[in-house]
Amino acid sequence: MDKFIIDGNTRLVGEVEISGAKNAAIGLIPATLLINGITTLENVPNISDVNIACDILNELGAKVTWTGEHTLTVDARNITSTHAPLDKTSKFRASYYLLGALLGRCHDVEVGLPGGCNLGQRPIDQHIKGFESLGAKVEVAQGKIDATVSKLVGNSIYFDVVSVGATINLLLASVLAEGTTILDNVAKEPHIVDVANFLNSVGADIRGAGTDTIKINGVKELKGDHTYSVVPDQIETGTFMCAAVASKGNILIKNCIPEHMESLTAKLIEMGATVEVDCDTIHVTCDKELHPTNVKTLPYPGFPTDLQPQLGVCLALAQGTSIINESIWESRFQYTNELNKMGAKITAQGKTAVFEGVSKLSGAPVYATDLRAGAALLIAAAIADGKSEVYNIHYIDRGYEKIEDKFRKLGAKIERA
Ligand code: EPU
Repeated sequence: MDKFIIDGNTRLVGEVEISGAKNAAIGLIPATLLINGITTLENVPNISDVNIACDILNELGAKVTWTGEHTLTVDARNITSTHAPLDKTSKFRASYYLLGALLGRCHDVEVGLPGGCNLGQRPIDQHIKGFESLGAKVEVAQGKIDATVSKLVGNSIYFDVVSVGATINLLLASVLAEGTTILDNVAKEPHIVDVANFLNSVGADIRGAGTDTIKINGVKELKGDHTYSVVPDQIETGTFMCAAVASKGNILIKNCIPEHMESLTAKLIEMGATVEVDCDTIHVTCDKELHPTNVKTLPYPGFPTDLQPQLGVCLALAQGTSIINESIWESRFQYTNELNKMGAKITAQGKTAVFEGVSKLSGAPVYATDLRAGAALLIAAAIADGKSEVYNIHYIDRGYEKIEDKFRKLGAKIERA
């Protein structure tokens, strides 16, 4: 099992290039199944979640090929199976997007109940409610989901909770449906807008992505022979912004979209950092003691749950008491036990964590408990006194491409062992 060994005491300084967004790419790859043709996706992050998605598509008969370091070509002219391999789909959260994509294209699908990071309960009732509203018959049994329909017909769907996955899934299911679908109380994350932009670029008729209501006029088919570039990763951008602040460093973050970072930027400035924004760069510096602050995670444009652990490292080092209220996931504070092993003083109970700031962290063996927890521990290990070992790094590899190279370029002393 791989681990990272990190010698700490590093002020992270330099430039970092942001990759394409994981949570967009893993929606876009299944979306290519809706196209009876060849699609090229550029700026695709080469991470393990993307590679599992590619393997699954290959097993369904689509031909997925890496034609460049970050370029994928998907030939979905010949889908030979609508039953996704259960061992792979159940390891991978975003396998649920196969439901929307294969229902839309083939009117039949079977996938394993989705796996992914353990963040507490992760129901998919809103996805199922949406598919049923479009006419599908959905059955959940024996660890898998089966959905079939003779014809998808547009409908109005009001989501009871704001869900990234359900919003993207219903976009996928409705673009080729007959008539108009209205999705209300949808998620507005940048990756949702990216999937909608991609579908529109191949001939879909989707309006309102990025607002609370999306209207989809079904079309007969989507066009092949199209190239689309994945949006830069909002969460990777925020991870390096937090790394700059926690290490009192100086990082120029390139190939990012500053507008997607407003909630984090506001918090970091409140804590004493300097954040300078240009068209596709963000320059974060911090040379002051950090002020404490309070944060509540919310759907976009609120503060992202996926940046909560990374900001938690900054709060662990602020002068005073900070509070994080996690409103999306039940158990996203598992990382606080690991930070406490490094000398942090964090008390987490239920959906609230109280951070009593300490002046420094010290190296320790720690375990990534999920993807973003892993990113937070890397930041903490880079700045802590002494040596740390970070285990369970397969979680980190799911969502960050060559993270050790990026940290090393900023001065971190990090090795994969
Ligand atoms: N929910 C329901 N019913 C549903 C769907 C969701 O009750 O049918 C609830 C969830 O339990 C949760 C809330 O709604 O409390 C939001 O869940 P959402 O569906 O938005 O999450 P997701 O689609 O499963 C995606 C990202 C997560 C990210 C969340 C929130 C992917 C593959 N995953 O998950 O990313 O935390 O949105 O932004 O896109 C990560 O990248 O580290 C990660 C966990």
